[in-house]
Amino acid sequence: MTSVDLDQLKKAAALQAIEFVRAGMVVGLGTGSTAKHMIMALGDKVRAGMKLRGVPTSQETADLARQAGIPLIDAENRWEIDVAIDGADQVDPHFNLIKGGGGALLKEKIVAASSKQFIVVVDHTKQVPVLGGSFPLPIEVIPFGWGSTARDIEALTGSRVVLRERHGVPFKTESGNVIVDVHIDRISQPGELEIALNRIPGVVETGIFVGRTNILVVGTPQGVHILHASQA
Ligand code: A5P
Repeated sequence: MTSVDLDQLKKAAALQAIEFVRAGMVVGLGTGSTAKHMIMALGDKVRAGMKLRGVPTSQETADLARQAGIPLIDAENRWEIDVAIDGADQVDPHFNLIKGGGGALLKEKIVAASSKQFIVVVDHTKQVPVLGGSFPLPIEVIPFGWGSTARDIEALTGSRVVLRERHGVPFKTESGNVIVDVHIDRISQPGELEIALNRIPGVVETGIFVGRTNILVVGTPQGVHILHASQA
């Protein structure tokens, strides 16, 4: 499948996902190419008269949402988010995720955790029997002593850890941290690994999302599949 075909599957799934949004809701807005389709389609609903407010998970998403005409809440420190909709880089059969390919994992996890319902939208190529392997695990790390933090992550996982760079310099997150990508073959115990990684000083957050997905919307060549966590 070409990337254009995959993008059509992401779009079809995103259009289904926004059917869970009702008038008056506060919606957590994810980041990435799948979330972009969701934001544009929500903008159409707003233009058609639906009242809703969004909580963006990145500056990129905030800009897109503003262009789409979605009113944003970004300064409140105690949200009541009804539903958050976001993409993912990998999803396993229990709806556990790897996220953070775009570097927005920290805000994405805070918004997902603050939301009554978390809907994840992917194309079928993101579904894997076990997390890891084809996609490295992103971890947001404090810049101070990041090399020592990376060494601890290496020791814990037994895997290669690579500092993420963009244009030849370390990639900085919106919170001013760096990202290390961990090349792990198999994450067979994602919950345990998430807890162990978060115990390492310097780790801000990991891209492992365990037990957070309520609904998984998958775009496939055969159509869009909607799966509920009770089926996982
Ligand atoms: C952003 O940091 C990520 O978590 C994205 O949600 C994830 O990388 C999915 O991105 P795409 O929808 O662009 O594949």
